[in-house]
Amino acid sequence: MTDSLPTVAGLPMTRGRCPFDPAPELGALRAGHPVARMEFPDGHVGWLVTGYTEARRLLADPRMSSWGEALRSPIALPMAADRTAVPPGMFTAMDPPEHTRYRRAVGAWFSARRTRTLEPRLTELAALHLDAMAEGRGEGPADLVTEFAEPMAASAICELLGVPVAERPEFSRAIKALFAVHSSAEEAIAGWHAIGVLLRGLVESKRAEPADDLLGTLVTEGRLSDEELATIGSVLLTAGYDTSANMIALGTFALLEHPEQLAALVADTTLTERAVEELLRHLTVVHAGGIRAVGEDLEFEGHRMAAGDAISFSFAAANRDPALCALPDELDVTREPVPHLAFGHGIHQCVGQQLARLELRVAFAALLGRFPGLRLAVPAAEVRTRADSIIYGVHELPVTW
Ligand code: HEM
Repeated sequence: MTDSLPTVAGLPMTRGRCPFDPAPELGALRAGHPVARMEFPDGHVGWLVTGYTEARRLLADPRMSSWGEALRSPIALPMAADRTAVPPGMFTAMDPPEHTRYRRAVGAWFSARRTRTLEPRLTELAALHLDAMAEGRGEGPADLVTEFAEPMAASAICELLGVPVAERPEFSRAIKALFAVHSSAEEAIAGWHAIGVLLRGLVESKRAEPADDLLGTLVTEGRLSDEELATIGSVLLTAGYDTSANMIALGTFALLEHPEQLAALVADTTLTERAVEELLRHLTVVHAGGIRAVGEDLEFEGHRMAAGDAISFSFAAANRDPALCALPDELDVTREPVPHLAFGHGIHQCVGQQLARLELRVAFAALLGRFPGLRLAVPAAEVRTRADSIIYGVHELPVTW
């Protein structure tokens, strides 16, 4: 069966007319070949999984490896050349038992119960960011990305990690530099190092002055080295920033472009939780991940996969699979939540998902509560999308109110 499979030349990233739908080729592939062969940017021929059921099964399979040195990116990345060794603490790029050890160390901080304690502070911060966005601007316009989505995402992670308020602008600058879409390899690597330096400084300050935030507690427990702690902090900052910021901005854009859905949400704010879940599924901002390598020779649904083969999972295609829900291409904020893959699946499923849900709930409630007449300040076709980044979203979202 493997031999007759088509080989896709790279991960399809180019969107069709609708900015909220994944590349049209992905839907065609999912219908015909939910597991296909794909040529990666470095010429390696591995696999592309677009089917929901197939992705779920493989992501939960212990024979899939996340070990960094074996992974290949499905899109050409400035940082790829720097990926030679996995530093202690970089648990996103590890397998059990190393992955389990780190995941346990941070896991309790991300439980639904613990995350809920951040709600009052995040609500306060959302109001402050919206005040700053509106100040002196009359009815707008303002760029929702820089004025609200990015500050919200940065605030949430800084609150959790325990970054002092005075140091936040420096952290935000370093994160923004790392994620600047058109950074060169040198700039991206410099950004990563700058974040590492800030995190090491933060670890030292928590050692000098114990604190009960995530990093402070891990320092006090004394089970991890400073290097591990700084890397864990960098992983959390980088995994949680661009994802949440883009979900807030792209989610707002999607609601503005689906006025009947927006009206339903404004009329009944108890729908916010469902709306967040549906926006996560429908938009699936992690549209060029996850990635794995096959850990040992295996057979999957008639396909022979060899140890070392790279696999790219299209969470975006899987989340539009009719096997997941009825009318998967429709955005329906009243939809009963479905077990989507916007946060991945298996042991590497997003550790920050409860925080992300909280951020999105707080952000949309604050934004729509404050500006019920929110609208785009430019024609929708002029909103530039981030089709070629790992994390999908918009470059800017000019709004008025
Ligand atoms: C809307 C926002 C978010 C989305 C859509 C998202 C999505 C994802 C996805 C799809 C994965 C799995 C990747 C894979 O299997 O290869 C993941 C993993 C991860 N996410 Fe998130 N994420 C979000 C927010 C956050 C936040 C706020 C944090 C932390 C502050 C975070 C931390 C992580 C970490 C550390 C991992 C790796 C877990 C592991 O390897 O065990 N994420 N996320």
